[in-house]
Amino acid sequence: AQPSGRRIAIIGSGYGGAVAARRLAEAGYSADLIEMGMDWERAAPVNGSVFTKMTAPSARSMWFQDHTEVPFSTILGIPTSMPIKKGAGALGIERFAHMKVYVGHGLGGGSLVNGAMAVTPRRSFFEQVLPQVDAEEMYATYFPRANSALHVAPPTQQMLDSKWYGFTKVAREQAARAGFTTTQVPSVYDWSYMAQEAAGEVPKSGLDQEILYGNNHGKQDLTKTYLKAALATGRITPIVMTEVTDLARRSDGSYRLSLRTINFDGDVVSTRTAVYDRVVLAAGSVGTARLLQRAQALGTLSGLSPAVGQQWGPNGNLMVARYLGLTPTGFSQSCMPAMGVNAWDDGPGSVFAEIAPLPLGIETFTSNYLAVTNNPNFGTFGWDSSSASLTLDWDSAKAAPGVAAAKAVMDKINRANGTCYRHDLFEGGKAFADYFSYHPLGGAVLGEATDLSGELKGAPGVFVMDGSLIPAKIGVNPFVTITALAERNIDRLLAAKRFA
Ligand code: FDA
Repeated sequence: AQPSGRRIAIIGSGYGGAVAARRLAEAGYSADLIEMGMDWERAAPVNGSVFTKMTAPSARSMWFQDHTEVPFSTILGIPTSMPIKKGAGALGIERFAHMKVYVGHGLGGGSLVNGAMAVTPRRSFFEQVLPQVDAEEMYATYFPRANSALHVAPPTQQMLDSKWYGFTKVAREQAARAGFTTTQVPSVYDWSYMAQEAAGEVPKSGLDQEILYGNNHGKQDLTKTYLKAALATGRITPIVMTEVTDLARRSDGSYRLSLRTINFDGDVVSTRTAVYDRVVLAAGSVGTARLLQRAQALGTLSGLSPAVGQQWGPNGNLMVARYLGLTPTGFSQSCMPAMGVNAWDDGPGSVFAEIAPLPLGIETFTSNYLAVTNNPNFGTFGWDSSSASLTLDWDSAKAAPGVAAAKAVMDKINRANGTCYRHDLFEGGKAFADYFSYHPLGGAVLGEATDLSGELKGAPGVFVMDGSLIPAKIGVNPFVTITALAERNIDRLLAAKRFA
């Protein structure tokens, strides 16, 4: 039985939601885990697979889109987009005027679609970004806990030396020629599974285009780690295909959630309301912002801090690709990045550029990078009442300092190797795709919109647990930090008996 008798809802099942579900359940609490996307573990395979690869998309690939849409929109002027049927697919896009935020939908959230890169930030930078958090405790306790629970491991030399990482080797050599170091990037991909894929002993997965639309085998996403442990307790009830559309505070201090359940084709199956005493907000930076902005606009939550909606950022994300002339990068590319160009010193020009595959199944003579930069600018969420939609003021001018930093690094690499930028991959012929992010962060910053454990100021019993807590950037791919911070916060909240 519930130790407290309190009704607990967790909204969203990505990193923050999965940590909360597991740790609450282990402490004896029961909770509903409400997720707008599919329970992919229970989805019947089609042609032997649950998730689709990049080159053979279907309705399962993207969230209610009639065509695929990836950041590299064309190659040699030919669109990469493919027609698909609309359905509750795994990869979603949150669209704003000048920013497309890519997100994962389904039990497991972003872990279903992400690149598995599991990087602990430099401590000095973490201290700069989150000075309100005890870094000693994070690096002694919570980062190790997160890394271990997520099954993070460095890439094996055997794989790095294989043809599957030829694209990484070339990028590494060319970075070295310009005086830059590259560092290995730990991952939650199972490297021994990948070795078996390479040997032809098991179905190919990360080695066969399974990345942005989900991964069938080697990636240890949250359904294989935190969520598995949470569900094994029997105390967590997943409520899938169900979006929380409204969050309202009731006069007795409890919260009323409006829920809309759809089927795979998007038909509304039911709408209802449910009352909870405690609500964990883990819908991701954009999902959490939508609920909070809407609730404020409709007056169903009032008295929140003016910091709600502030300090959003794309983690300085930019995609950039270099054309290498006659140097091939291989059409056999692992979809799981394993190294990054490390030009990070915490200063404004800092760049960490993960060496990304270009999983198009053809030889492209291209080095592709997803760069993380130390962009000082913030976006702010708002609410447009006329269209009843979330707004975000982000544009190319705000992205510009990140572009300048990445350009300085890539210019040097191009000069040292006689190579050039590709202008045929990204929207508008841009060399630097500054119009999208895989790493949305901020909007309900820890210690500002919330108290120092994530409890929303002005809404007692509502706890923010996701990427919203981190102001705008963290210097590396963010899910390890989101996980570690959630571990810290849930520990503090349990110790303070906030669910009791
Ligand atoms: P997350 O977004 O994971 O989960 C939120 C969940 O809430 C989703 O499942 C969503 O469906 C659900 N939801 C939203 N609104 C809801 C509502 N109103 N009602 C019910 N459910 C709702 N990071 C990294 O560290 N290494 C990497 O390699 C990559 N690579 C990468 C690639 C791609 C393509 C993407 C899109 C992202 C990455 N990331 C990444 C980023 C990483 O996946 C991301 O930072 C985390 O998933 C964010 O975790 P959160 O807990 O904040 O939310």
